[in-house]
Amino acid sequence: MAPSKNEYQKGLEILNKESNDFLSKNQTIPPNIKVLGETEIKDISKGIGVENTFSLFKKKYGNKISATTGPNYYGFVIGGTTPAALLGDWLTSLYDQCSPLTDVTNILEKETLEQAKILFNISSEFKGTLVSGATVSNLVNLAIARQWIGKQMELDIANNGIVTNNIKVYSATPHSSVSKSLSIIGIGRDNLQIVKTVSKRESIDTDQLEKELQKDSNSPSIVVANAGTVNTGDFDDFSALKKLKEKYNFWLHIDAAFGGFANCTSKHKYLLNSWNCADSITIDAHKWLNVPYDSAFQFTKHIHLQSQVFQNGNAPYLDSLTDSFINLVPENSRRWRALPIWFSFQSYGIDGISEIIERNCEMAVQIGNWIDESEFLILMAEVKLNIVCFKVSEEMEFSTAMYLKAINETNKVFMTPTNFQGEYAIRIAFSNWSTEFSDLNDLIKLLREVKVRLVQ
Ligand SMILES: Cc1ncc(COP(=O)(O)O)c(C=O)c1O
Repeated sequence: MAPSKNEYQKGLEILNKESNDFLSKNQTIPPNIKVLGETEIKDISKGIGVENTFSLFKKKYGNKISATTGPNYYGFVIGGTTPAALLGDWLTSLYDQCSPLTDVTNILEKETLEQAKILFNISSEFKGTLVSGATVSNLVNLAIARQWIGKQMELDIANNGIVTNNIKVYSATPHSSVSKSLSIIGIGRDNLQIVKTVSKRESIDTDQLEKELQKDSNSPSIVVANAGTVNTGDFDDFSALKKLKEKYNFWLHIDAAFGGFANCTSKHKYLLNSWNCADSITIDAHKWLNVPYDSAFQFTKHIHLQSQVFQNGNAPYLDSLTDSFINLVPENSRRWRALPIWFSFQSYGIDGISEIIERNCEMAVQIGNWIDESEFLILMAEVKLNIVCFKVSEEMEFSTAMYLKAINETNKVFMTPTNFQGEYAIRIAFSNWSTEFSDLNDLIKLLREVKVRLVQ
């Protein structure tokens, strides 16, 4: 069956109805629906048309969609989708501009990146791009760092390949995407040296880092610092790292996938003091900015090195695009992912975005205090930002794992486990724009009820 223009109208009707339906149920659909069993592969030799396809989809998959964008999803750090961002995303598909082949995509992306720099207090020395997520942003930034290391050794790794396996990368609590990136870019996972943290925290011990840097002070290295660790939302001390940078020759990359938003609240801004001393910064948009997947910012002060790594070679048909995002990121053809961010920025402004961040952080403090005062839970780390990490007291007759399982089995909320300093723990992460203080009251009620059920 060939496509027909009439189907657009039908598609819009379906989208309108389905959107209203899904968005109104977002609070009652379970936040994490488990789907077990084999995938049944349908014969596609004959097309069935748009309407039938939607009916088929609803029948096969419709009741398996989780409300991950709803207010009660507290797992990982994933955010939801604001109305403005959703509109921007719908329009991105409608216009289907191949970025960077049309001027409008470039101009709007550049404007969006400049506005992002203001939101995050990132200095004018940095230039940015948009990529699909913090993993790819870390990857791009570490690939630029690799090119920088090469230059320090009078090597051109982008052109000649890796000819040294002695590139040291230091970090205290790196996200798993860092070692994945090191594997992809040929530095190798084993060259990641874990530096000890400050006692009972996830922040790097800068004295220990200095000792490591001293050992190899003639070789350039890379330090991956963290602004918002996954387990506890902890931050490295960027003022101390700035001082070390004045003494030692290293590239400083900051993974601020969600911690970059600390700049949005007067109470948390200090956590990012001196962070402009970095060489590169990663910030996710699809997490706390609450834009749809997939979207992240990538910033660096070394744009010329970035273009050495990502430039297209042997493609005369791309010559007119030399000054373009096409030579700065892994993808050539890209989705116009600046549009949903631009819609968010104009619609809500820094004041609206800050309100979300402040509210989420205040919720984390309140539930952290409640846990700290409760007779059966133990708060495992100070609440620095939006993450609360806790376990069940050893005096209870049920374990932390049993408690988490029972919480998630209510299908009312969803939380994820972690391992914090060798101990199994639960994390509650606040990153959804639509989570209200009334949801917090419901959450506390649920945490109490689950405990009562488990002791009965
Ligand atoms: C600190 C940090 N870095 C990187 C990532 C990877 O982000 P993404 O899943 O957007 O690639 C995450 C995701 O949770 C993160 O929290």
